[in-house]
Amino acid sequence: MRALILAGGKGTRLRPLTVYTPKPIVPLGNRPFLLTQIETLKRAGITNIVMSLSYQPDKIEQVLDDGLEYGVRLQYLNEPNPMGTAGAYRFASDFLRDATVIFNGDILTDIDLAAVIDFHRRKKSLATIVLTRVENPAAYGLVETAADGKVVRFLEKPTPEDLAELNLNTINAGIYILEPSVVEMIPPGENYSFEYGLFPDLLRQEKSFYAFIADDSYWLDIGTPDRYLQAHKDLLEGKIRNLHFDAPRGDFEAAHTAEIDRVSFIADGCIIKPSARVINSFLGANVYVEEKAVIENSVVWAHTRINHGAVVTNSIVGRGCHIGRFVTVGDNSILGDKTTLTDYTQV
Ligand code: GDD
Ligand code: MG
Repeated sequence: MRALILAGGKGTRLRPLTVYTPKPIVPLGNRPFLLTQIETLKRAGITNIVMSLSYQPDKIEQVLDDGLEYGVRLQYLNEPNPMGTAGAYRFASDFLRDATVIFNGDILTDIDLAAVIDFHRRKKSLATIVLTRVENPAAYGLVETAADGKVVRFLEKPTPEDLAELNLNTINAGIYILEPSVVEMIPPGENYSFEYGLFPDLLRQEKSFYAFIADDSYWLDIGTPDRYLQAHKDLLEGKIRNLHFDAPRGDFEAAHTAEIDRVSFIADGCIIKPSARVINSFLGANVYVEEKAVIENSVVWAHTRINHGAVVTNSIVGRGCHIGRFVTVGDNSILGDKTTLTDYTQV
């Protein structure tokens, strides 16, 4: 079995972080995000992976290369124009002769994929979709199932009226297994989506379309700043059990009087000066934290400098930023790469 990772979206909701770093390779725990998906696929014995790209494909290819370093074989397919999720699958179909596992490229999960593959085979399903439960399904695809696991309704981005009427919390987790004949149901050469096109088509034509509810797995779509921060929070709290991340402490220098809490992640080459404080946060490689600066509940990407007395809380600071002396970067700020903030600025 092969896998297809849909990683061609522009990542607009994660701007400005995605201006220079496409969403599939934003750092998570100091590693390119897609390595989490590669690990999940590999654990289920899937090592041939096709990456469907469109936005900044060269950067993704440069970072992940041929995949050998991670024990998989990656092939890259660039769409000249975004073809939509199903269109991208059809576009990749020459590479995918058998049943294929498809992942949305922005979901963080430690799911046991082998169990989903087993379910797909037992049900003799044409299409299997993984579901997860969320408190507010409005931003997702709402899925209703029958007692035997058959999908009976699929509503992408349900309206408040839909939500009130259906009162469900099961949503499309962005993981599918499709048999190759599904490709024929997708019109060639046009933008077509699974969510608005193919899934409703499968239901209308009463095809064998089953849902696997992944109640025991960690699941999060990292595609908004809030959720990207949430992913780091969950990582620090140890909620993501079946994925491996780098050790929380790299090779860095810290003054004796610097305060670094037990959970914070500090990558190689960081320098933390006297009386600085790092609490519940992630520092990428070579971050420089000057005297008395405070970083709390935040993610700071590599090569950023936080100067004397600056305070960063509940925020994401991009790569190569320069945060001046006594600057305050307040709740939920997102600073793009190379941002420079003059001394005493308040954001
Ligand atoms: N190759 C390619 N081409 N990839 C695409 C395209 C395209 O034209 N459009 C989107 N993608 C990729 C994105 O890069 C992303 O990884 C994935 O498809 C899903 O797109 P999002 O833009 O993140 O969609 P969403 O989060 O609003 O909704 C989707 O995911 C939810 C779960 O996170 C839907 O599948 C929902 O039904 C689902 O609940
Ligand atoms: Mg998404």
